[in-house]
Amino acid sequence: MSNRTFTMIKPDAMENGHAGAILDRITKEGFKLVALKLTQLSAEKAGEFYAIHKERPFFGELVAFMSRGPIIAAILEKENAVASFRDLIGATNPANAAEGTIRKVFAESIEANAIHGSDSDENAKIEGDFFFNHFERV
Ligand code: CMP
Repeated sequence: MSNRTFTMIKPDAMENGHAGAILDRITKEGFKLVALKLTQLSAEKAGEFYAIHKERPFFGELVAFMSRGPIIAAILEKENAVASFRDLIGATNPANAAEGTIRKVFAESIEANAIHGSDSDENAKIEGDFFFNHFERV
């Protein structure tokens, strides 16, 4: 069990002005920021990040959505980070997300669901390395 996970605040939440409130919630829940950047994915980079979903019917839309505007990417540290952060963000579809979770509060739809959280320690490392080099993290 690793103590780090990776997150992105997605374009919908950025456009809706929720980035500050989401970061505030994350840090108040005890996650420490160990890397943070504002950036925008090209369609090519979004496709690479979500390559695992490339056979899914929603892949094209997902790539267009994730590359349409700025995002905030971050690496977070807390005990049992991956599972604890997934509890905090709630189910992929905000309609199914528990009360008080970030997606329940801030997400629009199953696609425009405000925030990403890694689903395993292995993917947390891969995803963090996708965005941050050695000098961009503490
Ligand atoms: P996330 O779990 O962070 O990573 C995969 C993303 O694909 C997911 O968030 C949603 O943004 C998107 N996604 C998942 N399922 C669907 C779906 N059925 N239709 C559209 N987008 C989806």
